[in-house]
Amino acid sequence: MFDARYSIRSQVAGALGAANIGETVTLAGWVAKRRDHGGLIFVDLRDRSGIVQCTFDPDASGAAFHTAERVRPEWVVKLTGTVRRRPEGTENSNMPTGEVEVIISGAEVLNTSDTPPFEIEAGIDTDEVTRMRYRYLDIRRPEVFAALALRDRVAQRFRRSLEARGFMEVETPILGKSTPEGARDFIVPSRLSPGKFYALPQSPQLFKQLFMVAGLERYYQIARCFRDEDLRADRQPEFTQVDIEMSFVTEDDIISMMEDVMHEVMKEASVDLPVPLRRMPYAEAMDRFGSDRPDTRLGMELADLSRAFASSEFKVFAGALASGGVVKGINAKGAGDWSRGKIDALNQIALDAGAKGLAWIAFPAEGDVRSPIAKFLSAAEMDGLKTTLAVEPGDLALMIADARDVANEVLGVLRLKMADELGIERTGYDALWVVDFPMFKYDADEDRYAANHHPFTLPREGDIDKIESDPLHVGSYSYDLVMNGYEIGGGTLRIHDADLQMRVLKRIGLGEDEARTQFGFLLEALSFGAPPHGGIALGLDRLVMLLAGAHSIRDVIAFPKTSSGADPLTGAPDVVSARQLREAHLKTD
Ligand code: AMO
Ligand code: AMP
Repeated sequence: MFDARYSIRSQVAGALGAANIGETVTLAGWVAKRRDHGGLIFVDLRDRSGIVQCTFDPDASGAAFHTAERVRPEWVVKLTGTVRRRPEGTENSNMPTGEVEVIISGAEVLNTSDTPPFEIEAGIDTDEVTRMRYRYLDIRRPEVFAALALRDRVAQRFRRSLEARGFMEVETPILGKSTPEGARDFIVPSRLSPGKFYALPQSPQLFKQLFMVAGLERYYQIARCFRDEDLRADRQPEFTQVDIEMSFVTEDDIISMMEDVMHEVMKEASVDLPVPLRRMPYAEAMDRFGSDRPDTRLGMELADLSRAFASSEFKVFAGALASGGVVKGINAKGAGDWSRGKIDALNQIALDAGAKGLAWIAFPAEGDVRSPIAKFLSAAEMDGLKTTLAVEPGDLALMIADARDVANEVLGVLRLKMADELGIERTGYDALWVVDFPMFKYDADEDRYAANHHPFTLPREGDIDKIESDPLHVGSYSYDLVMNGYEIGGGTLRIHDADLQMRVLKRIGLGEDEARTQFGFLLEALSFGAPPHGGIALGLDRLVMLLAGAHSIRDVIAFPKTSSGADPLTGAPDVVSARQLREAHLKTD
């Protein structure tokens, strides 16, 4: 409960109840509501702790009554009065303080307020940009305040749980050198070194590894990270990680530690997380759910139809299978009567996700099968399809013929789209580890191999020989924590051998000199007795979003940015003066 000490008030509004009846109290806060009932004036006084009804009576309240006649919503007032039980029949069981009211004897206006641009109450439908423009008013609303309060409790619990396990919090620089986490850097020009730039950290990755070389053994930091990437509901240009690194550990040690800490943290939101969590290999997640962050609360798993269509004469299926690909599909139960137009929209989604086309067969609840491709399929193929996908009347079969990873990925997108469209209920918390990510992926745009997680990840010992010859089959010690279809954390064991680190950097396309220029400090540190180490980073914003039941991390960030990276409150980003540009040695056109 909020503390009234060190304050001009004697109590806080939200804590008043039957126990205070008869007490004289001094309160301070905002006018949430004012109701003039002819004789009596009621003012709902709001402070951070809650709301209490204050009653002004022309006889009992004296001069304060005239103040009550003047006040308007969001004025700031200090009120003195006596707590009494509300008259029978006027109690409000929806309000925690609804049993009592305060009969006011003294009132002071501490400040007036303009009329707010939206109601300061729960569940308003004001557009988000207006709420962001007046975020300080938005935070006065109960659900926004509650989200920030939850975030605080979660962060404090992380700190306590980690400190109890011997972790120490150390800060790392914000002005630094680029760390490759796969996104674009925000860069800051240096006044003192003309033409040179700092990069804001995408994560404290390399510094936390240096801490292990330095002998810290267990480090954590609630760290701000910066990534200049396209924004989404679960992505902001600056966000917060609970960043962790440990020495002398196995992958299992890190996973168990994290499970114990997460169990304690989730309790802050009254969620009982059953640990240990399931672990699913990356390949299985992709094969069954078409995603490396599967939401396993809904079914609609991907099925391999390659066998059913092994001797198909339909050229699309036959062609994909002949070139080593697959035919895979999902069964969208309940979409069998969808219109052609709605299904064509799915086709577009499949194309956007990288497919060459979408094959579909609709099985209406009544009547004939509809499909542009059924005519190419034999009776045996139709039977095989129906058995494999467990088709019933009312279902819609969606199929992709392509290379395995393309088919998986596209069907993963369609699966989530159909779950939304069909209103499949997803309740509760579903957490699991996705493990064993491949070390490298092929980046077709840049025609080179890239690290799947980051290039400091430890490859599996047995695969080290394949770094040069067969990089796509090199496994790694890596684990992502997935909750309700979101990646809320990810980590790896790290390379602690300078030579192996150099081989991996070369594999992702850096020449020896380039590797030394960019990562010389790391390679050097690794050669001074680096212990085996590993770690993880959790996305605090995403975790709190899920615990708050919100749909966007903007809802759990005090001052978030819009999807175009702007802050409607301060107007950032903005132009700077010619002098600032000169000092930073910058020219703009
Ligand atoms: P990674 O890049 O996976 O790993 O990031 C860790 C977690 O941070 C969250 N996250 C984000 N949240 C909001 N907005 C963003 N733009 C954003 N980007 C990432 C996700 C993600 O799981 N240094 C490594 C960790 C390690 O290896 O220890 C790293 O940063 O929840
Ligand atoms: P086509 O003969 O190319 O016109 O394709 C016939 C049907 O197959 C169309 O409905 C396409 O959308 C669909 N289709 C085309 N390519 C694929 C593919 N790779 N996977 C699944 N369906 C496809």
